This record gives sequence, structure tokens and C-alpha cells, in this order.
Amino acid sequence: MRRLLTDPDPASAEPPSGAPDVDLDEAYAYPAEAARSSFVRSNFVCSADGAAEVGGRSGPLGGPADRRVFQLLRWLSDVVLVGAGTARHENYGAVVVPAERRERRRAAGLAEVPPVAVVTASAGLDPAARLFAVEVRPIVLTCAAAPPERRAALSAVADVVVCGEQTVELVPALAALAERGLTRVLTEGGPTLHAQLGAAGLLDELCLTVAPLLAGPGRIGIGQGQPWAGPVAMRLVHLLTEDDSLFLRYRRA
Ligand SMILES: NC(=O)c1ccc[n+]([C@@H]2O[C@H](COP(=O)([O-])OP(=O)(O)OC[C@H]3O[C@@H](n4cnc5c(N)ncnc54)[C@H](OP(=O)(O)O)[C@@H]3O)[C@@H](O)[C@H]2O)c1
Repeated sequence: MRRLLTDPDPASAEPPSGAPDVDLDEAYAYPAEAARSSFVRSNFVCSADGAAEVGGRSGPLGGPADRRVFQLLRWLSDVVLVGAGTARHENYGAVVVPAERRERRRAAGLAEVPPVAVVTASAGLDPAARLFAVEVRPIVLTCAAAPPERRAALSAVADVVVCGEQTVELVPALAALAERGLTRVLTEGGPTLHAQLGAAGLLDELCLTVAPLLAGPGRIGIGQGQPWAGPVAMRLVHLLTEDDSLFLRYRRA
């Protein structure tokens, strides 16, 4: 991978622009404060014309380099946070962490494997889904209005946390994760959850892969839901490239 642009902050110790063989661990390291309080990073892949899905899946958008970044961001996180739509559409399973990475995580004071946390108002998740047949118990963040029998069924396979009445309130949801020591939050969306995090001012970073594809009209982008009151300004931390894809890391300005 090559670096096209680097953090313009003169205090930054980044290597010079254009340097090949970027150290991705360094490029995507969480800031120090993320160990102390919730820091929410999102990771998305989209086509050059802004689509976040093709045929309801993100898989057709990502190539090998995107998959490397996708995995690395998981390995750097304390928890992978997703909306139930993404968990269902993408048939989510466990985060896969190879032995060498487990060791690095342990040495860095992280759990060997980050749990997946799913946000759902309906609690409409199948307890027999592969998401729940995993080494680390997932967390289900739901609300009081979710049908009690569904909550009870999920309690057998996950830690179920109620964070709100009719919907999941995202501030208490992040607080519930932080109480468990899960402050380096990686959200993989989807677009509905992503837009709410952004609207609430809870999104600290966006890691975006732009794939060299045109998906055509009628596709969902990386934000879905109600229009925001105004745009949220971001600053570019880095821009990497491999195989005609762009890898952007933005931080909230
Ligand atoms: N390109 C990418 O990187 C990428 C990443 C992720 C997803 N996607 C694509 O995005 C599509 C899915 O989009 P989506 O917008 O449906 O995904 P989503 O945001 O993951 O899921 C929406 C669902 O999450 C739950 N939810 C979200 N916010 C909530 C809140 N505040 N309180 C309670 N529940 C909440 C609800 O679940 P319940 O219905 O259970 O109540 C809601 O229906 C798929 O096609 C997927 O492939 C693409």
C-alpha cells in the first residue's frame, strides 16, 4: 500500500508522502484517549458513486486490500458495533482473530477477541444464528419495548442490555459498553446506525474505502434515515491507495 497524503499536522511523526509499504497498524492506531473513554470509529466501503451495497451486500465492493483493512480495524478494537440490519443482511459471525494477533492484543491489554454488539429495537435476531455460536458472547443492545419473549430467548446466548424505551439510546448504549471496558468502538454500520451516531455527535472517525466501481442508482449510501440539521465537518488524517482503491481516514474536526 502507498500513502498519498499524510496528516498535515506538523507535530505528526508520519513518514513522508508517497512512502510505500505503509505500516497499517500505525496508520490506524486508536488515539491514546480511546483507552479511557468511548471513541467511535466507523468503517465502510463504498463504490466510487457512493453505494454501500450491491444487491443488499457490501461484499461485492471490497477487494483484498479492503478486507485487510477491515480485519485490521477489528483486531485493533475492543468491540464491533453493528445495527441488526447489517447483522441479518450480512449473516454476521464472530470476529476471527489469528493466534499471532491474539498475542498482540493480550500484550496491549485487550481481550483476545472483541465481542460483537448488535443494536436492535425489535430484538428480531435468531438465537440460532451463527452470530451467537461463537467463542465470545455477543452483546445485544435493545430497548424496553422489545418483545419480552425475544429478549428472554436472546439472553440465553448473549448479554442483553436495555438502553432506552422505544429505541436504543446511543449514549447509554456506549456507556454500557464502556462499563465493560469496551471503549475502542468499531462500528461497521450499517447506514441507519451510522447516521444516528453521526447525528448525535458520537462519531469520532470515519474509515472509508472507495472502491473502483460504479454501482449505479438506487443503492443505499453510508447514511440512511432522517436528514441532519447540518453537515458534520471532518479532517483527513490519511489517504492510502492500493489496487485502484482509496483508503481514507477522517477524524471529526
Ligand atoms: N458498505 C459497507 O461498508 C456496509 C456496512 C454495513 C452495512 N452495509 C449494508 O447496509 C445494508 C443494511 O442497512 P441498514 O441501514 O438496515 O443497517 P443497520 O443500520 O445495520 O440496521 C438497521 C437496524 O438496526 C437497528 N437499529 C439501528 N439503530 C437503532 C436504534 N437507535 N435503536 C434500536 N434499533 C436500532 C434496527 O433493528 P431492528 O429492525 O431489529 O429493530 C434497524 O432496523 C445492507 O445492505 C448491508 O449490506 C454496508
